[in-house]
Amino acid sequence: MTAAVPVAASAAGAPQQTAPAHAPPVRLVTDRPPLDSAQQRLQWLCEQITRNRFLPLPPAELLFVGDGDFRAIGAEFLRYFVTDGGLRPNEEVLEIGCGIGRMAVPLTQYLSETGAYQGIDVVQSGIDWCRQNVTSRYPSFQFHHLDLQHPIYNPGGSMAADKVQLPFADKSFDFILLTSVVTHLSTMETRAYAGEIARLLRPRGRCFLSLFLIDDEARHQLRQGQPRLPFDVGAEGPEYQAHPDHPGGAVAYDETFFLRLFAEHGLQPNQPVQHGHWSGRAASNYQDICVLGKVDAGPL
Ligand SMILES: C[S@@+](CC[C@H](N)C(=O)[O-])C[C@H]1O[C@@H](n2cnc3c(N)ncnc32)[C@H](O)[C@@H]1O
Repeated sequence: MTAAVPVAASAAGAPQQTAPAHAPPVRLVTDRPPLDSAQQRLQWLCEQITRNRFLPLPPAELLFVGDGDFRAIGAEFLRYFVTDGGLRPNEEVLEIGCGIGRMAVPLTQYLSETGAYQGIDVVQSGIDWCRQNVTSRYPSFQFHHLDLQHPIYNPGGSMAADKVQLPFADKSFDFILLTSVVTHLSTMETRAYAGEIARLLRPRGRCFLSLFLIDDEARHQLRQGQPRLPFDVGAEGPEYQAHPDHPGGAVAYDETFFLRLFAEHGLQPNQPVQHGHWSGRAASNYQDICVLGKVDAGPL
């Protein structure tokens, strides 16, 4: 896989101290009890990740990816990647919008030596932290800054996000993940990523997204309740901004429109959307979870 590109230099004032180059990777396999199913082993691993104080954890003042328990949320998503997305330890993973490593850190405990991870984001400080604290211990985890404009995350960005071209060769990845990322993108930006994801996935590759999708039930729930995210579901769509005066703060899409947009690029749902409880319906996950598979099954 080629990662030929605009990897910007570190921001001035970024923390300087890194783990020594010789620090051994922290793995969790030492005291594992005998577990008889893959599900139980995954459950055990996720519990260990949630509790493990030795895994890299960004300081509170650097966090910009939302509230909640950093480790527990990462572990919860690792479970979804495996059970819903079919992620396997030897796969090559791309994370679009990797933030400050909330998904990458648990993946260090799951991907094997033949797997690999690339993360990209528009926030330089998140990429700097990930390089200093994750790549230093897990060299197969690489992070890249892309200077794409975003009204909240990177207002001074030098490139338009709807023209994005990711610095990787075609068919480089088995698994691409975007957790709470299209929840901040305009339709044009999401469309640009749909094209890039289709280009970058290998045949039988999967794209895992967590997001806000509006179907009839979500419309109904949002009209009934007093939602924390005030999407105006009476508006035409297909893009709904929760706070139109702060574009990019929270974005939902009409579900049919969103699935069609990706279908135009040969990406189809592998299973029904797993709707979350963000709109008021009963669910264990918060955002909706959507796993798209590449339809063409050409040579691997
Ligand atoms: C709510 S945070 C989620 C971060 C991460 N996925 C997680 O779950 O911890 C949204 C992320 O999307 C990133 N982002 C915004 N616009 C982007 C773009 N055009 N391309 C890639 N990432 C983008 C932000 O910088 C931010 O890290």
